[in-house]
Amino acid sequence: MLEIKKLISGAVADCVQQMNPQASLDAEAVQNMLEYPPDPKMGDLALPCFKLSKLLRNAPVKIAGELAAKLSVPAVARAEAVNGYLNIFLDDGYLADRIVPEVLTKGTKYGAPDFGEGKTVVLDYSSPNLAKPFHIGHLGTTVIGHSLKKLHEFAGYKCVGINYVGDWGTQFGKLIVAFKKWGDREAVEQNGIDALVDLYVRINNAISGNAEQGIPADPALADEARAEFLKMEQGDEENLALWRWLVEKTLKANDEIYHQLGITFDSYKGESFYTDKMPAQIQKLRERELLKIDDGASIVDLEAYGMPPCLILKRDGSSLYPTRDIAAAVYRKDTYDFDKAIYVTSAGQSLHFAQWFKVVELMGYDWADKLVHVPYGTVSINGAKLATRTGNVILLRDLFALAIDKVAAIMEEKNPNLEDKNKIAEAVGVGAIVFYYLSNNRIRDINFIMEDALSFDGNTGPYVQYTYARTCSVLTKSGEYDRGAKLTVTVPEEAELVKVISRFEETVREAIDAYEPSVITRYILDLAGSYNRFYHNCSILGAENEAIKNTRLALTEAAKTVLGNAFDLICLAKTEKI
Ligand code: ARG
Repeated sequence: MLEIKKLISGAVADCVQQMNPQASLDAEAVQNMLEYPPDPKMGDLALPCFKLSKLLRNAPVKIAGELAAKLSVPAVARAEAVNGYLNIFLDDGYLADRIVPEVLTKGTKYGAPDFGEGKTVVLDYSSPNLAKPFHIGHLGTTVIGHSLKKLHEFAGYKCVGINYVGDWGTQFGKLIVAFKKWGDREAVEQNGIDALVDLYVRINNAISGNAEQGIPADPALADEARAEFLKMEQGDEENLALWRWLVEKTLKANDEIYHQLGITFDSYKGESFYTDKMPAQIQKLRERELLKIDDGASIVDLEAYGMPPCLILKRDGSSLYPTRDIAAAVYRKDTYDFDKAIYVTSAGQSLHFAQWFKVVELMGYDWADKLVHVPYGTVSINGAKLATRTGNVILLRDLFALAIDKVAAIMEEKNPNLEDKNKIAEAVGVGAIVFYYLSNNRIRDINFIMEDALSFDGNTGPYVQYTYARTCSVLTKSGEYDRGAKLTVTVPEEAELVKVISRFEETVREAIDAYEPSVITRYILDLAGSYNRFYHNCSILGAENEAIKNTRLALTEAAKTVLGNAFDLICLAKTEKI
């Protein structure tokens, strides 16, 4: 559609030139004025002519009328002037002949913008704290982050996905205390993460107490945990060996989740990696006279910017979360020379990012404006808020398992003879969760309702995956067809489908500009809806003649290709059969 918009914009610019030879208006400016009307009765594109009134010194109604009379391009079937708008109706046949062959030739590259060529983007996402359970709260950063990576890759960027694992901090002190008190190496080797989650929950209950379970609070344990962590920081080999082993176990457990989601990372350099990279930045902060001592701690005062101070060093000299992030950003700039560095975390961390981004700017790094924080809202399940410190956590793994089981049961009813049932149930179960999650604007809080996510009829993952499988099955049944033949568009459903397909690249651009995968999810629903309307109203294999049948098969293949490309962008598996 971008190409067609360009063509039309050029023609409109020429008309404007004729209407006022002194007026200079380029095609790009016209293109930026074009809108998609909310109602197809108002055309496929519309030009609000009040935007030209000043230039042409004329009333919008007059301008629209004149343009409607003058505009003549093959792409446009007719143009109407309505209330100062120029409503443009595209020629269905022209559009189909431009768009469908392009989709079929470009395949997995169809819709890909190229503005990222030669540039690098670093994405920091997922990044769980390793000693803690990997729960549903991490779903957001993991799937939004990976989707942003896919989107940027699609636009030509070289992308580096970094899992900045929280592999350092007092939580390891807690786990070490718990392990030394109650742990059993054998149990951890056998049950892996489950045994560690038990220990984590138990130590937190013991420190803060749990009235329900009759456990009194024992704050001394927190001191013990801090002491164990301090030993780690001072290089105590026994604790470090235990730490390495705990990190390895948790990483392995997380890998299963990433595998189910089809996600891989390019780097796992976590917080511990930056320990020796912080002093240089602290030195720089000092040289620039940015550090202030406040009650023994070192801070950067951000009052002038309307923010509380950024904590750099604690009273005891130990470093903090922002300090590590600053050191990591400098390292990443030196290593990857990024054009953008994207951080995906819950909105709860927005202040943290705003603060240290400001500090990086004050330090004089000229790339401070290339740091981008992408926040997202909270998740609850069936209305229940999630607690992370007590036993009441919903592990991502358990959520996936539940979804997979439910999908398997539904499939058993619908299609008991399906081959590879387990694999498909996994793709659809996990896909249902991913799709449901990404259907909302990322900043909105989400209440997860399992029934809704798993339904095969609503606006869900199973529904769109089912639609994809439908396109595959039509093409398998048809066998070879003439992919190069001229297209014959005869019914509105076909024209509508081509229009939705033609908007894919613009949709991708919009999703990247707004760091918003839900733009793609919504597009997928539009495309699936449009394909299904076409499928139900047009006989494909039984079409009245070869030319029409051929057109419908080409449309099916185009829909399949674009659905597939869009699925890839949001980590949704392409299921050929369901
Ligand atoms: N580990 C942190 C957490 O679980 C998220 C890290 C986000 N990335 C960053 N560079 N700070 O809350």
